[in-house]
Amino acid sequence: MIHKTIIEPFKIKSVEPIYLTTEQERLELIEAAHYNPFLLHSTDVIIDLLTDSGTSAMSSEQWAGIMRGDESYAGSQSWFKMYDAVYSLTGMKHILPTHQGRAGERIVYSHLGGPGKVFFSNTHFDTTRANIEFYGATAIDIPTQEAKDTSLIRPFKGNMDVDKLEELIKHYGASNIGAVILTVTNNSGGGQPVSMQNAHQIRKVCNQYDILFLLDCCRIAENSYFIKHREEGMENKSYVEIAREMFNLADGAIMSAKKDALVNMGGFVALRDDALFEELTSLLIITEGFTTYGGLSGRDMEALAIGLKEIFDPHYLEYRVKSTAYLGEHLHQMGVPIMLPTGGHAVYIDAKKLYPNIPPHEYPGQALVVELYKIGGIRAVEIGSVMFGKYSDGGQLIPAAAELVRLAIPRRVYTQSHIEYVIETFSNIMRNREHVRGYEIVEEPKFLRHFTAKFQPL
Ligand code: F0G
Repeated sequence: MIHKTIIEPFKIKSVEPIYLTTEQERLELIEAAHYNPFLLHSTDVIIDLLTDSGTSAMSSEQWAGIMRGDESYAGSQSWFKMYDAVYSLTGMKHILPTHQGRAGERIVYSHLGGPGKVFFSNTHFDTTRANIEFYGATAIDIPTQEAKDTSLIRPFKGNMDVDKLEELIKHYGASNIGAVILTVTNNSGGGQPVSMQNAHQIRKVCNQYDILFLLDCCRIAENSYFIKHREEGMENKSYVEIAREMFNLADGAIMSAKKDALVNMGGFVALRDDALFEELTSLLIITEGFTTYGGLSGRDMEALAIGLKEIFDPHYLEYRVKSTAYLGEHLHQMGVPIMLPTGGHAVYIDAKKLYPNIPPHEYPGQALVVELYKIGGIRAVEIGSVMFGKYSDGGQLIPAAAELVRLAIPRRVYTQSHIEYVIETFSNIMRNREHVRGYEIVEEPKFLRHFTAKFQPL
């Protein structure tokens, strides 16, 4: 018999309690957190869908690796294992270990960027953009036109608009381009995948204008799953082969290993170019650590090396992508406006469509995030004008391109009934949608304001 039910392809060996708060308690807790879920204590959250980053459950093999970790300052055995795992996947011989993705970003973009430089991406993740802008350069998002319509079903809505890329390279002048960054999957663009064809086209343009092509590859395994099942000619390749083929097209890669390497902390920069590697090595040593540990403990590197292999297990990837799609399908069926099709690591809700009565400057995404917490103790993240909004010189909000809320699913952490609970919470959200009001920001920092901004209901 062929079973239709896709089960979690793992058993639970160690558990953590979830504390069940009441709705009354949550009203007080979210007010005390200034209506910003980043300011909540994790024990006050029932289902934590804030991020899939660093929240994975490690395998027993990874935990065994933690005990084996070699904590030597130089030449650690764990480093060589991490090096081999990253090299065998990326084919890039120069590897810099970093404590997480943004540490790699800082090292790379502080060197390649600066005033007058321009970077292009299908969509820069918020820390990527912040690291580019912090050093005075400009970050421009050029997602495919298809991505604009959240209800349109297309296989690769994470793609970059390659015509636009070429047009902008001509406009700014090739020598001013810091790099082209392809984010796979496209996290801020809805967790949508990028096709191999798109990567080939970008390679061609970068060759023509002699521009560096970087992959932001933190969800490369999930992206490979979509390529295998959606792109013509790729169906007979393994997930690892597909990932290798994509790395082969790039000059370098930055990975936050907190996603598809199944670790709680870690990352790397991988490069082909000797001179660039030499420059970046100095920066690594100044702020992260010596070349054979970067910002990591030996045990972290050991777990990373194991996780980077486990992630390509076909049974795991099928469960991962299909269980995320299950949540998406159920929300879609009950009329929740989600970004279609469902992405790999998360379901994105179009808060502008859910709450058409709340204008962008009253932050509809923030309103939904607060509702989810109040009603279900669910923590999610706004990816809209709170995260990406800017102010004009006159102090008016320039809204983000979309008002999304992300339900990110930690890897191997929640079971089917947790997901059913989320679906049930949404039926309540739908019933209550007319009564929800917007928010104003009462305090905010200059960079990455969504982490610490304080809000007040209108
Ligand atoms: N690039 C992408 C596409 C990301 O999604 C992230 C992190 C980073 C870079 C930075 O990596 O956190 O290890 O420094 N994304 C997390 C998220 C935070 O919730 O999506 P980091």
